[in-house]
Amino acid sequence: MLRDRLYVSVFTRLFVYNILFEDAEVDEKILDIGEDSSVLSITGAGCGVAGMVHRNPRRIDAVDINRHHLALTALKIRGAQMLSSYAEFYDLFGRGYAVQPSRLVRRVTDGLPSWIQRYWKSHHRRFHEPYHRQGMTAQIMSVMRRMLGVDAEWFRGMIRMSVEDRHRLIDEWITPVFNRPYVKAFLESPIQYIGFGINYEQRDRMLGTAGQNITDFYISHMKRVAATDLERNWFGWYTIAGQHNHDNPEAVPPYLRRDRHERSLDSTVSVGYHHGNILDVLRSAGPNTWSHYTLCDAPDWMPLRVQKTMLAEIARTARPGALVLRRTVEDDCIVERHNLRDRFVLREDLSSYATEHDRTRQYRRVDVYQVAA
Ligand SMILES: C[S@@+](CC[C@H](N)C(=O)[O-])C[C@H]1O[C@@H](n2cnc3c(N)ncnc32)[C@H](O)[C@@H]1O
Repeated sequence: MLRDRLYVSVFTRLFVYNILFEDAEVDEKILDIGEDSSVLSITGAGCGVAGMVHRNPRRIDAVDINRHHLALTALKIRGAQMLSSYAEFYDLFGRGYAVQPSRLVRRVTDGLPSWIQRYWKSHHRRFHEPYHRQGMTAQIMSVMRRMLGVDAEWFRGMIRMSVEDRHRLIDEWITPVFNRPYVKAFLESPIQYIGFGINYEQRDRMLGTAGQNITDFYISHMKRVAATDLERNWFGWYTIAGQHNHDNPEAVPPYLRRDRHERSLDSTVSVGYHHGNILDVLRSAGPNTWSHYTLCDAPDWMPLRVQKTMLAEIARTARPGALVLRRTVEDDCIVERHNLRDRFVLREDLSSYATEHDRTRQYRRVDVYQVAA
């Protein structure tokens, strides 16, 4: 599709996300990564893959078509492995700033591929002020927060309410603003689709399933999030408060927690950084390479023909029993759609746990497939 080619060419030039909008705590529970594992992962902003380091897998291959996201991922992974002061590590990624960013970032990137070192040499200023406020998604959210008149105090008030009262608050406070004509127009604009990482292929899948317009979709999404444990839901905090909840150590992505950080310091994992399409990384690998594949919701961005090629390449490169994790805005099972049930088995137990517990509430399904031996 031409408009999705255009979408990708704009998306890949921009710093869009600074956090991953996927529940890495859920993934940690279901993937069971161990010392013998080797992982191929689409990174997004890297919170998920940085959270694998403490398991000390044999290898991680991190891939993303967006160099901003991959460079940030590298910084998170490397920071987890070598910043021995937890306070310094947490300030950098949890609070989002450093006192002397250029010096700190130079130290962390030492030994990383030269393009990543060059990238951070020219982007270290991001950490002069909370980097959570930077990137396209964060900037859109900051405008929305101002428009809605919400902040951390407002969110703390919401946390104290029952779920019914939270829903009432959304109906009375948020819905009227979202339904203003100029806000609706913005929510339907390409800028917003890029900022929230929804390409046209995925938008059609998302709205096709929900039978809604995008404004109604966002309001119902907020209500789904409001029904979760908001005290610990870092996606809720990030969106409404514009920061993490620093009062609760369990309210941040796992890679930012003290125990994971301690173990990550001892990790000897070797990490490859691949700036490009996952298909090219798959094609260049031999059989028996990876035990885990984490794909984000990238398959939703792909036309059916590309999805099928990717699954065939996964089946070719997988170790026996490998796990494949993907999120989707659709109800369909990707394996059934492509008639690949002989190659992949849906792990109902893991998939229903993950779908039920993912606190982003962005996806209709979180599926885990096992590659048939
Ligand atoms: C699909 S997007 C959507 C947002 C995602 N759920 C998140 O929380 O970040 C996630 C990441 O996938 C990357 N991506 C999309 N298609 C890809 C592909 N074919 N190969 C490698 N990376 C891809 C994007 O650059 C982006 O960083």
